[in-house]
Amino acid sequence: MLSQEKTIGVLGAGLMGHGITLLAAKAGYKTTMVDQSEEIVEKAMQIIKKNLRHEVNSNKITETIAENISNCITLSSQVEDLQFCDVVIEAIPEVLTLKKDAFSLLDKICKPSTILATNTSQLSISEIASATQRVNQVIGMHFFYPAQIMQLVEIPLGEHTSQETRDSIVNIAKNMGKSPIVCKDSPGFIVNRLLAGMMVEATRMYDEQVASIEDIDRAIKLGLGHPMGPYELFDFSGIDTMVRAADGLRDALGERFLLGTGIRSKMRAGDLGRKTGKGFYTYE
Ligand code: NAI
Repeated sequence: MLSQEKTIGVLGAGLMGHGITLLAAKAGYKTTMVDQSEEIVEKAMQIIKKNLRHEVNSNKITETIAENISNCITLSSQVEDLQFCDVVIEAIPEVLTLKKDAFSLLDKICKPSTILATNTSQLSISEIASATQRVNQVIGMHFFYPAQIMQLVEIPLGEHTSQETRDSIVNIAKNMGKSPIVCKDSPGFIVNRLLAGMMVEATRMYDEQVASIEDIDRAIKLGLGHPMGPYELFDFSGIDTMVRAADGLRDALGERFLLGTGIRSKMRAGDLGRKTGKGFYTYE
C-alpha cells in the first residue's frame, strides 16, 4: 500500500499537527512528531491516544491495532530528529517568517531527498520554498480541521514543485484515506477563497442588519445544505483567525475581501467566538 516514502515527520503538534500525525501513523508510516517542548508533544500524544481509545470503544479498530498505531509515533522536541524522514509536513503557526525560518532549517538538516510539505491555509508555497535550496521538493499539503475527519486535502503546487514531488504527496494523501485535489499556488487556494467570499459578505450583512444572525445562519443551512451558517462558523473557527485570513486575501486580491466593521468591534472587545465564550453568539 505504501509508496517509496516510509517515514513522515510532522513539525508542530498543535490542533492540526496531532491530527496529521495520527493520519500518518494510521496509514502505516513511521511518524515523528516534533514541537518546541516535550510537554507540548506529550500533550498532543495524549489527544492522539484519546482518539484511538474512542475508536476502540466504538469497535472501529481493535486494541492491538490502536497499540500498533501508537507505536508508529515517536515524539521529540528536537527538529534534528526529522533529518532522516522521507517527507516532513509542517504545521506551525500561519506566520510567513516563522514558516520560512522553519523551512530554511529543515532544508539544512534533512537528507537531500526529503520532501518538505506545508499545511499553510493560504500563504504562498513558492515564497516558503524560496527559503530552501530544494524548491522542486516543496509543496502544499493542506488538511482541513479536524484532519482525521475531513476528506479533502488541497495540494497547492509551488512554481518549481516537481511532478515527482506532486505524485508522492498525492499518493500519501490517498494512503491516508483522503481525496487530494491539486491546485495552483494562489491566495486561499480553493476552499478558503470561496468560503471567504461568503464570510466577508456575511459581515457586511451583519452591519446592514439584513436579518437576524440566527435567520441568516438558518437560511444558509436550509437553503444551501451547509452544516453551519456563517456566524456559527465564525464562532467555531475563531473570529480572530477568520479575520486574519480575510485580511490576507484582501491584501492579495483586493477590496472584494474587505470585511464589514462590526466584526472588528467584536475582535477589539475580545469576543472571539466559542473559545472566549462569546462571539456572534454567547456560549455557556
Ligand atoms: P496551533 O497553534 O494549534 O499549533 C501550532 C504548533 O506549532 C504549536 O504547538 C507550537 O508550539 C508549534 N510551533 C511553533 N513554532 C514552532 C517551531 N519553530 N518548531 C516546532 N513547532 C513550532 O496551530 P494550528 O491550528 O495547528 O495551525 C497550524 C497550521 O495549519 C497553520 O499554518 C494553519 O494555517 C494551518 N491550518 C489550520 C487549520 C485550523 O483549523 N486550525 C486548518 C487547516 C490548516
